[in-house]
Amino acid sequence: MKQKILVTGGAGYIGSHTAVELIERGYEVVIIDDLSNSEERVIDGIEAITGTRPDLAVFDICDEAKLELFFQGHPDVAAIIHFAASKAVGESVSKPLHYYRNNIVSLVNLLEVLPTTQAKGLVFSSSCTIYGQPDVLPVTEHAPVKKALSPYGNTKQICEEILQDAVTSGVDYRTIALRYFNPIGAHPSAEIGELPRGVPNNLVPFITQTGAGIREKISIFGDDYDTPDGTCVRDYIHVVDLAKAHVIATERILSGKSSEKYEYFNLGTGKGSSVKEIVEAFEKVSGKELNKTYAPRRPGDVEAVYADTSYANDELGWKSELELGDMIASAWKWEKKIRGIDS
Ligand code: UFG
Repeated sequence: MKQKILVTGGAGYIGSHTAVELIERGYEVVIIDDLSNSEERVIDGIEAITGTRPDLAVFDICDEAKLELFFQGHPDVAAIIHFAASKAVGESVSKPLHYYRNNIVSLVNLLEVLPTTQAKGLVFSSSCTIYGQPDVLPVTEHAPVKKALSPYGNTKQICEEILQDAVTSGVDYRTIALRYFNPIGAHPSAEIGELPRGVPNNLVPFITQTGAGIREKISIFGDDYDTPDGTCVRDYIHVVDLAKAHVIATERILSGKSSEKYEYFNLGTGKGSSVKEIVEAFEKVSGKELNKTYAPRRPGDVEAVYADTSYANDELGWKSELELGDMIASAWKWEKKIRGIDS
């Protein structure tokens, strides 16, 4: 019998790619998603790739009663991967209470219900944002957690503390926080990808939309940083590589292999790329020259951050495989598909 994995936020960007990898590894996937920042057609995309349609329950996990009811129908969930959360840094500054409620209450509800189920533990979506601007690069998991620059970042810090406190209290489930660097790209089939609502905040969707003619130009925020070409440096990682790491973390929980009940790993490539390099990579892959301009620094941006991935490489036996060219090519293929662009 297939083991059943619950993926909250499984209709979202990283959640949907993880659902695909889980199904392809032989797991049964059930998704809870309130579709507040995603669409039901994502489930069609998962089915198109895998030939299997995961069950979708549409509700908000902040609703404790609905969550309990869900588990009554699914007492055999073996592990949970928890993606469902709000993720826009800027929006979190104007709607802090929404972020605290949505991101924290949902996790607390899951951890409260977990001991009443057969689930062995939970994998949590964390972020490199918890390091702020690290003093030493590449950043290891031992780097200090710095004061968050946004309510969104703060929710990730608080959630990691909640995971740690929860397992310290003597429960017998395990938790793993995965600290993502900058996920980009789409499934190579272009059946699923990122679906930002409105004007994208993130660099790569903004670039691909500019390439598709939806945005007039790409603004490069700041060219006077202390980096090789003056623009900010990030560790961009292919969403499919990231999804695979979730499968491995889930299997670590299922097998009880982890030495600690709470663990945390950096998920990046270990390579930093500048904003300029990303724009150039897009121009090379697409053969299109973008209309670009330099704009002032974006408030809250860190200058440079990229991961030391040796702990994830050694302990999880995971390594990112796909290159920047693959990331950009898949993002562009996806953008063209959803816009109906042929060439
Ligand atoms: N950038 C531009 N122009 C744009 C958009 C972005 O120059 O139109 C630059 C940004 O200034 C930054 C880089 O591209 O230097 C990457 O920006 P993103 O918004 O794509 O990514 P961030 O590194 O800011 O954000 C990521 C995650 C967040 C997380 C945050 C922590 O997307 O979820 O890291 O800093 F919280």
